[in-house]
Amino acid sequence: MRLPILACLTLALTGNALANGENKAQPELPPEVAANKALVKELAGQLKARLMGAVKSGGPVAGIEQCQVAAPEIRQNMQAKHGQLISIGRRSLKPRNPGNQPDEWQREQLEKFDAAKARGEKPGYATRTLEVDGKQAMEFMSPIPTAGLCLNCHGENLKPPIAAKLKELYPMDKATGYKLGDIRGAFTVVTEITK
Ligand code: HEC
Repeated sequence: MRLPILACLTLALTGNALANGENKAQPELPPEVAANKALVKELAGQLKARLMGAVKSGGPVAGIEQCQVAAPEIRQNMQAKHGQLISIGRRSLKPRNPGNQPDEWQREQLEKFDAAKARGEKPGYATRTLEVDGKQAMEFMSPIPTAGLCLNCHGENLKPPIAAKLKELYPMDKATGYKLGDIRGAFTVVTEITK
């Protein structure tokens, strides 16, 4: 099984949540947060393009192997472009890949995103500082909503060939039963803090 990159790093926590931006209006983001937000946008775009391309040419079953954020090309491309990027990943309270299990802090943020959504608010983002291999780093987490395309593989009534393939690849799968607009999980990017 391919583990997300984050899981392969030893993350030493040096501080608690630095800023907790969820549920607040964010007219002006601090520059480092805005930079991380842009990275998530780029990552989400690349992932969606791969997924849609595969589904379009070969159908949802062909797309199954493309919903992998840890796909080496995505990571390598992004790291080549953004020197400060340490790792990218996804976390979920109901992961398909057990390697996408959140840690305690990430779980709390995912629960806050869900709570905001349940109150009818738009969930924001969360950040914390960490030390990774002796480097000061920031982790940025932002929620991923469930769109129509996602329901093919994360929805309530999966088509039998999809359900069968998922069962074969992910015997511990918890990532079904989502409805349109539900929060499927969150992206996480860890970047080095450079002064
Ligand atoms: C073609 C099937 C398919 C489609 C469509 C799909 N996914 Fe996935 N999704 C998967 C598979 C397979 C995994 C497990 C990837 C891995 O091993 O890391 C996954 C994992 C994820 C994860 C990581 C957390 C976890 O459960 O392990 C998130 C978040 C996610 N998908 C969100 C989405 C969103 C949002 C969409 C719609 C834009 C979507 N997916 C569409 C198959 C799909």
